[in-house]
Amino acid sequence: MLHDLSLTERILKLKKEKNAVILAHNYQLGEVQDIADFVGDSLELSQNAAKTTAEVVVFCGVHFMAETAAILCPEMTVLLPDAHAGCPMANMITAEQLRQRKKELPGASVVCYINSTAKVKAESDIGCTSANAVKVVESITNDEILFVPDQYLGHYVSTQTDKKMHFWPGYCPTHVRIQPQDITRVKREYPQAIAVVHPECRPEVIALADEVLSTGGMIRCARREDVSEMIVGTELGIIHRLRKENPGKRFIPASEQAICPNMKLITLEKILWSLEKMAPRVKVTEEIRLKAKASVDRMLAII
Ligand code: 13P
Ligand code: SF4
Repeated sequence: MLHDLSLTERILKLKKEKNAVILAHNYQLGEVQDIADFVGDSLELSQNAAKTTAEVVVFCGVHFMAETAAILCPEMTVLLPDAHAGCPMANMITAEQLRQRKKELPGASVVCYINSTAKVKAESDIGCTSANAVKVVESITNDEILFVPDQYLGHYVSTQTDKKMHFWPGYCPTHVRIQPQDITRVKREYPQAIAVVHPECRPEVIALADEVLSTGGMIRCARREDVSEMIVGTELGIIHRLRKENPGKRFIPASEQAICPNMKLITLEKILWSLEKMAPRVKVTEEIRLKAKASVDRMLAII
């Protein structure tokens, strides 16, 4: 523990010297969340990045999240403490594949989940996160939508709107591990608990849930007075924050299998190393950045 303490102190000292801010996603390791200046979901993290005055952002999350910060704040140094922390779903569609699909669906507006590369965002009309996907789709005047890359989030949105929606067959390898029988089993064990699931889950899992929420939505739901037990259908890292903020309440993972290995690549040691070396940096070419920013800005404007 002494070792961890001094590691934390060294990070905090360097952070001050470099005028850096540490942003962490709700799925990060507990010790990483605890050292961060801000912990949140993808929407909250991009809003935070858009308004920070720090010179350096240490992004504790996956590549697309750091890239979104670089898209919004070109003058800022954006560090991702492990360059291999990617999101497999984001890599399930390329800009070339999206251009091809757009040719096949010339009448559709393209809504792009933030879990995507900057190049894919640059080919899209508007971005969205799990927290605002329904609102974003509803804000579009066009009735025909091409939703990329998450077929399950897209499917969930289609149940909440009358728009004609086309999906890309992407998915989150972590959330698909949560099976309907997992929800049924824990519901049987904890009949009083509210079951909340992330919209990246399979439709059969979503059908069994009481609420479908972004990770930030789950954090807010847990604070409600009428909630004392919660079945949590998302990545396990969020349990740390839920328990820390709500002592006395019970949080039950829907599945012990729901671990995102990429989110766990960020450690305190790597954060320190990253601040010392000012690497690995996440950069976006100016041509792509401007196009991708237009799509992210359109999303941020409708909240
Ligand atoms: P949230 O925006 O809900 O935090 O989700 C991000 C993510 O990667 C889910 O797998
Ligand atoms: Fe990507 Fe899934 Fe990991 Fe989220 S949990 S970062 S969608 S792989």
